[in-house]
Amino acid sequence: MKKTLASFGALAVITIFLGPQDAITAKPSKEVMHTTYNKLPLSIRKAEGALLQQAAVNAMDLSYQVRQAHWTLKGETFLPVHQFFDTLQAELHEFIDILAERQMQLGGTIYGTLRVAAGTSTLPEYPLDLVKVKDHVQAICKVLSAYAELCRTNIRVCQDLGDDVTSEIFVTITRALDKQLWLLESNLEPDMIPKN
Ligand SMILES: [Fe+2]
Repeated sequence: MKKTLASFGALAVITIFLGPQDAITAKPSKEVMHTTYNKLPLSIRKAEGALLQQAAVNAMDLSYQVRQAHWTLKGETFLPVHQFFDTLQAELHEFIDILAERQMQLGGTIYGTLRVAAGTSTLPEYPLDLVKVKDHVQAICKVLSAYAELCRTNIRVCQDLGDDVTSEIFVTITRALDKQLWLLESNLEPDMIPKN
């Protein structure tokens, strides 16, 4: 019993010392590149590796923001929106896989644990106190729009680097997310969508 209490005390001290944020900010210690027969120059593969890693972890973060909405929304249109978020998360998981595998094809290494995603995602935090369907729809529209914009930027960056294949991956993702955003935002009154 004494030992258990002592262990608990040590754990409590460690938890207080590290804090909950430190515990989830896992980051890769170094970039690992593998040898490959892929003829794209190393400098291009490395530059794209950084884009692919960021896009993958952001998509992981986004997918669980969508999951949070899927689980917690309430209201008259619960069922179709609940199901829509299911489909959207499944699509995001496909994209995460495509991005991660492209990273490996280019000789890089993907770092795709939830802890790495939590520690390195650049997306805004999802509000955890939402309940109403439209509030969740609006919140997901905002983060979906932010992620689609990142992918849209990557289309041009990869083109400029001279890799049309990776660029096309970002075209595919952006095209799909633009459509999902349209389907989702069409549920909102115009005053819930900011003017461009
Ligand atoms: Fe579910």
